[in-house]
Amino acid sequence: VTALDQQARKILRGNDRGGYTVPTDGLYPYQWNWDSAFAAWGFAQFDVERAWAELETLVSGQWSNGMIPHILFHKPDPGYFPGPDVWGTEGKGPVLSSGITQPPVAATFALATHEADPEAGLPRLRALYPKLRDWHRWFMTWRCEDGMIFVTHPWEAGRDNCPDWDTAMAAIDPVGVGEYTRRDTSHVDPAMRPTKEDYDRYIWLVQRGKRLGWDDAAMADDMPFKVADPTMTFILLRACRDLGRMADLLGEDRAEIDGWIDRLTEGAGRLRNGKGVFDAINLNTGAHSGHLSCASYLCWYAGIESEDMLACLDKAFEDTPYTIPSHAFGTEEFNPKRYWRGPIWGILNTLTGIGLAEMGHEDRAARLRRATADLIAEHGFAEYFDPLTGEPAGGGTFTWTAAIWLAWAS
Ligand code: DGY
Repeated sequence: VTALDQQARKILRGNDRGGYTVPTDGLYPYQWNWDSAFAAWGFAQFDVERAWAELETLVSGQWSNGMIPHILFHKPDPGYFPGPDVWGTEGKGPVLSSGITQPPVAATFALATHEADPEAGLPRLRALYPKLRDWHRWFMTWRCEDGMIFVTHPWEAGRDNCPDWDTAMAAIDPVGVGEYTRRDTSHVDPAMRPTKEDYDRYIWLVQRGKRLGWDDAAMADDMPFKVADPTMTFILLRACRDLGRMADLLGEDRAEIDGWIDRLTEGAGRLRNGKGVFDAINLNTGAHSGHLSCASYLCWYAGIESEDMLACLDKAFEDTPYTIPSHAFGTEEFNPKRYWRGPIWGILNTLTGIGLAEMGHEDRAARLRRATADLIAEHGFAEYFDPLTGEPAGGGTFTWTAAIWLAWAS
């Protein structure tokens, strides 16, 4: 156990609020869905019991339609906006929550937690399994078109302000959004965060969901924001494979899951644009975004090979001192500091590295892992990093950066 391992464990312990972990103190004071699943994976490296508790608290917020929300508001915190009153989801789930979901990495990290202590973990896995299956089924019912998973709010994909959403965001006129006070920019330099134009639309979409009572059918009728997303499609495809492995371990029937895997595999192929790059599709226009992003590289994680993407990755290694930028270097939109428009996110590097290694690209996987480890060792456990200078950006002492250090990078 090195000094950095100790530091990473201390961050996880420090961000523990009792059964769940906040992404970082201040900026994100609640339980976030995929942050929490990464936290479980980090805890599984030294405290398996705590890892199970994290996942169990996450699924405790599941709605009756199967959706597991992107934020669970366990305790009020005035330091965050938009809080529960803005979302207006009372009565939808057992815990106050947001009304949208987030990338479903939980099944994958539940399986990893089980592997850390299989015998003791089997009953825990058995209890989680139907909840994760119902969540995946909700995705396939309400968020799937032609085998592609689409998002209905930029926050759903986790990549809040990435250029993949620009055309869909521009088509929204956030009329009537009213006055509100952002809290994020009091914690972090506004130049590292989404713009006011972005926030007006984020809040406008939340107000619309609230007005429609977060009813899936009502919301699906006419979606102002509907973008097929490589993050969600690749991650769900991967998570369904892991859910299938779980079903095998538990002796459950997996036919339905295999059907999802087939549909998603076909859908993932549709995300490939004319240049062979996996990108997003604005389903309200049918147009590909044309953007190479960190989500494009998740193909291997989903078990999909691509020579074009290998070539993009090799170029990305040469383009900037640090890899992988969340949006391709040398493009008009690239911004090394602004959240998902350029900065490096360790969790995306991790999923990409896992996929590369599994698909036989061990050299590239090792290179990416080393690069990510160096970034953390030199610049700390930041939320994200500037790909030109390596400088830390966003929140500090960040849970998922500590988690990937322990589980993958170190
Ligand atoms: C935020 O508040 O910035 C989050 O990304 C929303 O999930």
